[in-house]
Amino acid sequence: MYRTHTCGELRISNVGQVVTLAGWVQRVRKMGSLNFIDLRDRYGITQLVADEHNKEVNDLVEKMGREWVIQAKGEVIERQSKNSKIETGEIEIKLHEVTVLNAAVTPPFTIEENTDGGEEIRAQYRYLDLRRAPLKRALELRHKMAHEVRNYLSNVGFMEIETPYLIKSTPEGARDFVVPSRMNPGEFYALPQSPQTFKQLLMVAGYDKYFQIVRCFRDEDLRADRQPEFTQIDCEMSFVEREDILNTFEGLAKALFKNVLGKEIQGDFPRISYADAMEFYGSDKPDIRFDMKMNTVTTLLQGNGFSVFDTAEYIGAIVAKGCAGYTRKQLDELTEWVKRPQVGAKGLVYIKLNPDGIKSSIDKFYTPEQLKAVADKIGAQEGDLILMLSGEKKKMQGALGTLRLEMGNRLGLRDNSVYAPLWVCDFPLLEWDDETQRFYAMHHPFTAPKPEDMEKFFSNRKEDLEQVNANAYDFVLNGTEVGGGSIRIHDSKIQERMFEVLGFSKEDADYRFGFIINAFKYGAPPHGGIAFGFDRFCSLFGGQETIRDYIAFPKNNMGRDVMLDAPSLIDNAQMEELFLVSTAKREEK
Ligand code: AMO
Repeated sequence: MYRTHTCGELRISNVGQVVTLAGWVQRVRKMGSLNFIDLRDRYGITQLVADEHNKEVNDLVEKMGREWVIQAKGEVIERQSKNSKIETGEIEIKLHEVTVLNAAVTPPFTIEENTDGGEEIRAQYRYLDLRRAPLKRALELRHKMAHEVRNYLSNVGFMEIETPYLIKSTPEGARDFVVPSRMNPGEFYALPQSPQTFKQLLMVAGYDKYFQIVRCFRDEDLRADRQPEFTQIDCEMSFVEREDILNTFEGLAKALFKNVLGKEIQGDFPRISYADAMEFYGSDKPDIRFDMKMNTVTTLLQGNGFSVFDTAEYIGAIVAKGCAGYTRKQLDELTEWVKRPQVGAKGLVYIKLNPDGIKSSIDKFYTPEQLKAVADKIGAQEGDLILMLSGEKKKMQGALGTLRLEMGNRLGLRDNSVYAPLWVCDFPLLEWDDETQRFYAMHHPFTAPKPEDMEKFFSNRKEDLEQVNANAYDFVLNGTEVGGGSIRIHDSKIQERMFEVLGFSKEDADYRFGFIINAFKYGAPPHGGIAFGFDRFCSLFGGQETIRDYIAFPKNNMGRDVMLDAPSLIDNAQMEELFLVSTAKREEK
């Protein structure tokens, strides 16, 4: 037997027992005549002590380096100086015997809570980084989340069903990763961006409550919360309306909050329409941990000769509570900040509600009374600072939303231990793209239009189609889109119309999506579903913005696995076998 206990297990009540532990040497310290080892495994750290009387053990301990794998046998004794920072801090093991199970070369960075290793080197030696406590905690959290998801959904009648990874390319949404087929020369599979069509086919097949914790693949530009392969909690239900779905998955989210974080979320999650989210938060994923809603003040401020405002389609304002004391320097800096391309405003107008009167950057055009009236209208009080952006409506709503988040950060209002979930509903069904001169599905082409908008959906006027709302919803947590879903189209005629609206010829729609249009002719039940970004859910529960540490072996922001050094070239024989042009042939050309 390699061990009787783990390195996180022994307490004062074990004093007197002779135990065997196995693990990694985190550190060896010499203090006077004693040698101390911090021995680490997945469960914690236990201190071992070798004294000079046991020469054989002591000599071996003195030779040991960091990360050696050893087995240690000895007696649990009470420590002289206790360490309250670790759970085993009241005891240590007086060594009787030590066996080296495997020596190790010195690791390229320290394997401690706070390491000296940079990101690149840690990614290259991910298996060493994974030995560190913060990553271990992240993966433990992920495991717990997955376990709770399976428990909850199984208990309410869902079945986990796997769907294939080698599927057909349907380039709508993100780009596909493709896989050449050796047995079908010149043809390619695609890796699924999500199991969307399969879960709908499972509904046609009668499996009315499906879920799967499933890997998805998308060839898109990466960000802190995006990986080329990521995991979804993918779900679908039959004979349901939107309410049934939102209630079921609100239940799942509440169970996760309670059982993983120990947080009870009272009451229903707020619901907000897409239109309101854009108007009040300038974002379809509002962070409602703090208020600071946006106000439209366009008509209130036009007609006073300030041409920037007079010619603007939209003027929006936010109130930064207690910020009237902002200095000239701070306001200049904020003005530069809103002009950054990522924000995209041309300038920033402010009104300071000082105790000794109102001061603004537009004093030339407005009387203090006029500005006071605006302040009253939007609920700003003495001591507050009003910040305003103006210009093209859609763009400036987005910019003001970004400024709102920035002010939230600066005022410490975005506390990662606070959780504010909500549903955003009633998204537009379609988005017009000027470049390709066609509509794209805002969610995906299987999302149903709202029944009341069906007439407009069959109209051929662009303005009508732009107004069609989708029966779609997103689950948003702390300003991140964690989940998205919809009630689906289950009528083959409506599905055909959808492809027509998206600009597919009948032949093209049949070639790409014929299987699902056809399936709907064989008795498709009304159905709908949702998918949660599992990595995002985990990272938010862990209080982190980046999902990378919640994935055991993630890619870097160039989509590379720097540990494996993938992607990589393949040799010519392999290329030829797959009927791809070999490098040699490419060079010949
Ligand atoms: P959607 O495309 O909105 O919907 O994806 C669902 C959720 O998956 C997460 N997500 C990602 N997470 C990490 N890296 C990525 N590259 C990435 N892309 C998406 C997000 C998102 O909310 N089939 C539909 C769902 C449905 O209609 O039921 C779908 O995939 O958290």
